[in-house]
Amino acid sequence: MTSLRAPVDSSLPANPVVLLTGATSGIGLALARRLIAWPAGHIVLTARESSLPRFEGLGIQASERVWLRPLDITDGDQREKVVHEIHSELGGVDILINNAGVAYRSVTEHLDEVEMHRQLASNFVGPMDLARLVLPDMRAKRCGRVINISSVSGMMAMPTMGAYSGSKFALEGASESLWYEMKPWGVAVTLVQPGFIHSNSFRNVVWSAAARRAMEDEADPYHEVYRSMSPFIERLMNVARATPEHIADRVLRTLQKRKPRLRVFATIDALFFYVLRRAVPRKVFHALLYRGLPGVQRWGPPE
Ligand SMILES: NC(=O)c1ccc[n+]([C@@H]2O[C@H](COP(=O)([O-])OP(=O)(O)OC[C@H]3O[C@@H](n4cnc5c(N)ncnc54)[C@H](OP(=O)(O)O)[C@@H]3O)[C@@H](O)[C@H]2O)c1
Repeated sequence: MTSLRAPVDSSLPANPVVLLTGATSGIGLALARRLIAWPAGHIVLTARESSLPRFEGLGIQASERVWLRPLDITDGDQREKVVHEIHSELGGVDILINNAGVAYRSVTEHLDEVEMHRQLASNFVGPMDLARLVLPDMRAKRCGRVINISSVSGMMAMPTMGAYSGSKFALEGASESLWYEMKPWGVAVTLVQPGFIHSNSFRNVVWSAAARRAMEDEADPYHEVYRSMSPFIERLMNVARATPEHIADRVLRTLQKRKPRLRVFATIDALFFYVLRRAVPRKVFHALLYRGLPGVQRWGPPE
């Protein structure tokens, strides 16, 4: 009898334990559906407590091999609880996919300290702490994968997306460091960088309180910035051809590689911006981007 194997590189267990965050929407949901369809593997799908009931409506049921667990990535107790349960019952996580994330949208002046901390907690502190918790089991087994879903915003910044970019730049730096630390132990770290995706995530953007007020108030000095940037970003997402399913496939392909790259460009625009940033002097890159911003000539004081 041939035993079933998950479609992963042979350095990983045939029946790997996968922990996925933010599994009820977008890229996470696309990944969840693909992982469930694997012939083997123990899949732990997590979502915020308030989002857990959505699994049922999505046709995703808990079973012996598919666990559904609450995990708010910003909650240290919940992070520890889920990792502890997996350690005790299943011997530890083999593949961690840090997908959960939020995108704050605000100019810097409109973002208060609490909002800034929330952005970093969701996209940087929470994911890296979850990685910290799963590493001892991976090191003990001398194998494992940490996949952090980053973004083009982890290599370049746009106005109104400073906090989001900051969180993804931080994730990139910490993951790069972890790559060196884990390589001797046979644990691979990968940053998957999507660019714009045709998805609902535009609706899930979190506007800072002051940004919301400024969008309603024509007299606000940043009103024009929001008025031009918001539809611009929405348009880029609408015309993007990459879907959450494409990104999920890209993530899963990295699991089939013996030596996955540290950075994986998950969309064509991610590759484009990477090449452009390398090929063009920084000063020129910034000047080009600045001039290309929609309505930028109206962002400052009237002539
Ligand atoms: N869409 C894009 O264009 C794009 C581009 C580059 C990178 N990305 C990255 O891709 C990842 C997935 O984004 P997506 O496009 O699939 O967006 P999405 O549809 O908004 O999904 C985000 C997921 O993260 C979850 N989440 C948010 N805050 C959480 C928290 N504190 N604890 C646990 N879960 C939380 C959400 O859960 P709830 O349903 O409970 O809110 C949701 O399941 C993110 O890391 C994002 O930064 C997206």
